[in-house]
Amino acid sequence: MSGDTRPIGIFDSGVGGLSLLRELDVLMPYEDFIYVGDTARIPYGAKTEQQIISYSHEIMDFLRRRDCKMIIIACNTVTGMLTERDHLECEGAPVVGIINYGCITAALYVTYNFRIGIWGTQLTIDSGLYKRYMDNIDPTVRLFAQPCTDLVALIEQGAIGSPDTRDLTENYLRPMLREDIDTLVLACTHLPFIRGIIQDIVTAAVTLIDPARRTAVLCMKVLTDNRIARADRCELGRKQFYVTGDPDSFKETGRLLVGRMVDRVEKVDLSS
Ligand code: DGL
Repeated sequence: MSGDTRPIGIFDSGVGGLSLLRELDVLMPYEDFIYVGDTARIPYGAKTEQQIISYSHEIMDFLRRRDCKMIIIACNTVTGMLTERDHLECEGAPVVGIINYGCITAALYVTYNFRIGIWGTQLTIDSGLYKRYMDNIDPTVRLFAQPCTDLVALIEQGAIGSPDTRDLTENYLRPMLREDIDTLVLACTHLPFIRGIIQDIVTAAVTLIDPARRTAVLCMKVLTDNRIARADRCELGRKQFYVTGDPDSFKETGRLLVGRMVDRVEKVDLSS
């Protein structure tokens, strides 16, 4: 009657994936999660495709060794390099990435002028995955992409309300606003943490899409379809956090971003 009580693995290059974890926690607070932040090798957006593929396989192997029943890629950059479908498999465990048809249809649902901004790392943009998904549904949509390179480091440091962050955000957004977008996809998991600043700059004329919410719903469906959801839902699940870099700074920024959900953080050697 307790269903599958094994944990769910989730990973990102740093704190960005916490924006997806908090949505998962709203939908499935009873599940256990193991989160990996590869903070020693952030930013992923500045790496090569080969490096990203090798890092993500190391992390997924680590999560499978901890008996994770499903793996969630809470990083657009990795998803762009790995998945062409809504989900894949890693040694029998389903793998769900944050770029999927759920977030594409959410953007298509809200746009009126069919001019959509995609704001992610250079590697995510270069992967072309958002464009391919979008073209499969409606090839007439115009996408305008912009990299968010230097913002990732500021958000990692917890500088979510600083004047530097605001100035940089404004500079990045200007070219897309000139293209008259009415919808903006936050295609990097770090960006939802500065959603307030972004909305303030783009005004109510632009609707923001955070792929995290639709991805959390997709994860719930994949758990149910594979009959691996936890059946006993009376107790809160446990969350474990592992990082490859400094655990104290992850904890400090993590608590600032998502509160007490981030409790104990351990430094890990991914080959262990
Ligand atoms: N948060 C990651 C993403 O969604 C990337 C940040 C990085 O460059 O490491 O793409």
